[in-house]
Amino acid sequence: MDFEDIDTIAVLGAGNMGHGITEVAALAGYEVRMRDIKDEFVQNGYDNIEWSLNKLAEKDQLSQEEADAALDRVTPLVDVQEAVGDADVVIEAVPEKMEIKKDVYTEVEEHAPDEAIFATNTSSLSITELSEVTERPEQFCGMHFFNPPVRMQLVEVITGAHTAEETLETVEALAEDFEKTPVRVRKDSPGFIVNRILVPLMNEAAWLVHDDVATIAEVDSTTKFDMGLPMGSFELSDQVGNDVGLHVLEYMHEVLGEAYEPCPLIEEKVENEELGKKTGQGFYDYENGGADIPA
Ligand code: 3HC
Repeated sequence: MDFEDIDTIAVLGAGNMGHGITEVAALAGYEVRMRDIKDEFVQNGYDNIEWSLNKLAEKDQLSQEEADAALDRVTPLVDVQEAVGDADVVIEAVPEKMEIKKDVYTEVEEHAPDEAIFATNTSSLSITELSEVTERPEQFCGMHFFNPPVRMQLVEVITGAHTAEETLETVEALAEDFEKTPVRVRKDSPGFIVNRILVPLMNEAAWLVHDDVATIAEVDSTTKFDMGLPMGSFELSDQVGNDVGLHVLEYMHEVLGEAYEPCPLIEEKVENEELGKKTGQGFYDYENGGADIPA
């Protein structure tokens, strides 16, 4: 598949990343089929896209006409065949579990055109292992966006063991057309580049609090105001989703070893369904003001 031939994109998953990627692709002028397994999930994703586009229009980052036209290019769907049947590229952003993703690819392989590229937004899982459940491993790569996709510039384009150079070049051209900056990851390795750095940062921050070395506010104040990152470490965990961060950590722990042992504080948050901004409660309470980090 050449980049010039792409006009229809299927995004699988309408959660935080799925709806954000859909929004980015629709803003770039593509017809996007956004699919999830339940009407309420798809509707929720669609409402989030509408909210975000209106917010960008309110802030004059695009006109209301552009916002409305982008929303018109989004088709929310539950039926997988309708979603991928005429797709040139399928971007998958379903939950970060190997078995769920493999099941999705097995189903999608049946319905997607033979020439379509499959790109996974996995945060850490093996691109090679996922590609091997399809009949097109050379047309399979990672396309990893960051949260929130509409605001974050970077996209990692990850090489699986079977990925063809042509696939990487097409996906890099697509990322550029989305007005993003693609960075090629040469080898399939847990967490790729960014999460290999960022997820241990969030985990170490949690261990500091767990071990009574500092409070959440002290750690976040240091990360944000002294180290100069755009968010505190705990604020970032809440932005990413504590469940997503934990999945990445568990996989890095399994493959890379002890240094990546997840902190129990993060596990507790996930057990209590305090997943961060998306549930209104995480390390901070987003129903009552969110992160208030002392400068
Ligand atoms: N669409 C539209 N508007 C949005 C939005 C979205 N998706 N998300 C937030 N906003 C709005 C907010 O509602 C707020 O609006 P308000 O001013 O009316 O209250 C406004 O944007 C805040 O924007 P600002 O530019 O004023 O705020 P910042 O300068 O702090 O920028 C940020 C926000 C871009 C999110 C910045 O804080 C940032 O870069 N944070 C770091 C995020 C990051 O590192 N993400 C990557 C995490 S790793 C990952 O995702 C990988 C995964 O695999 C785990």
